[in-house]
Amino acid sequence: MLRSISAPTNAAFIVMASTILNMPLNVGTIKGLDCRSYGNLKPNALPIRPSVSALPYRRMFVVKASTNDGPMKKMGRSDAECEAAVVAGNIPEAPPVPPIPSSPAGTPAVRSLEISRRPRRNRRSPVLRSAFQETSLSPANFVYPLFIHEGEEDTPIGAMPGCYRLGWRHGLLEEVSKARDVGVNSIVLFPKVPDALKTPTGDEAYNDSGLVPRTIRLLKDKYPDLIIYTDVALDPYSSDGHDGIVREDGVIMNDETVHQLCKQAVSQARAGADVVSPSDMMDGRVGAIRSALDAEGFQHVSIMSYTAKYASSFYGPFREALDSNPRFGDKKTYQMNPANYREALIELRADESEGADILLVKPGLPYLDVIRLLRDNSPLPIAAYQVSGEYSMIKAGGVLKMIDEEKVMLESLMCLRRAGADIILTYFALQAARSLCGEK
Ligand code: PBG
Repeated sequence: MLRSISAPTNAAFIVMASTILNMPLNVGTIKGLDCRSYGNLKPNALPIRPSVSALPYRRMFVVKASTNDGPMKKMGRSDAECEAAVVAGNIPEAPPVPPIPSSPAGTPAVRSLEISRRPRRNRRSPVLRSAFQETSLSPANFVYPLFIHEGEEDTPIGAMPGCYRLGWRHGLLEEVSKARDVGVNSIVLFPKVPDALKTPTGDEAYNDSGLVPRTIRLLKDKYPDLIIYTDVALDPYSSDGHDGIVREDGVIMNDETVHQLCKQAVSQARAGADVVSPSDMMDGRVGAIRSALDAEGFQHVSIMSYTAKYASSFYGPFREALDSNPRFGDKKTYQMNPANYREALIELRADESEGADILLVKPGLPYLDVIRLLRDNSPLPIAAYQVSGEYSMIKAGGVLKMIDEEKVMLESLMCLRRAGADIILTYFALQAARSLCGEK
């Protein structure tokens, strides 16, 4: 009896297949399969579309459940008769070997190079190429950064085409639902805080009824299995636009800021955050936040530390999105110098010993070497943040038709994975997941 295994019952195959990216797009089975496999936290989270493309997939996984089906249908002669015919010299017909393809006129006639290594052999067909692909990309790897505000409408962000400040009550829920439909079930929240609530000490950051805690509660109520990352830093709440408290002489006060960050992280955890992510670059904040969380009974809440966060100009569009530009100066006394590599190891050791669960590098593509450095020096999961400026450059290049936006998007994400990132925070999360699922 032949039994066909339907997609939802065989998770092992689904997971395996979901790691394939570079399948030719005409392989409809993979398109449908990928999409269905990604968001399988709830069995009915994704609509199983009875599409034509699902049919060959089912055929691929047909298994023979019983051997008592009787002999195969007889085609004519027996095995012995066929063998005897060949032995007697009656070789059956088969298609001829194709002729050697001709070269264009003028091609020089040369002796073959005597080389034993020809790496092109393993690249010569799509099947071989996908068999030997070392890195995979899946919506499960994405964390989707979302901007929220108190408003009812979604406000487009000029410097980030396709991104909006989403109304926390409506637009946000819709966006999260769309992301979940294609297997992106992790988000990170960035609030646009009303100016009137900003103070030098950023106390709104730990207001339990503030925008972020309120939004977390709403999201968790609607989507309990959604993984919510939060940003821990004072800049959206600071009247100075800095990640920490600014002293009269312009110095960013470390330990006092850490005190505030602990309260912020606990408030986010209380609201239901799964992963708190200090992006402030104060010294000692990971250990302090760990202790504060544990003291309040939040042992289960993870810390994703921005381990190597550089003082980068690639954050420009983000600061426009949140209206969070520093009111004076820059962030160079706490964020790292883009010229530095070894220094990331110092941050790595501190974060590891202080109890970070995930280590993050930011920005992403210009800092692939740092991602690889952390990957090779820590067993912890590594996150890469493809920041606003990286996103906007690809978008702009696409709009101007200077590059193929979709291909460059997928390549940039794959490269972050190749460098060693387990997860990627990217504004492309929804677009890329749709593309991986064969949707536009
Ligand atoms: C602030 C924060 C920033 C980003 C994430 N968290 C900006 C900054 O450090 O000034 C940047 C993200 C991006 O550019 O996409 N704590």
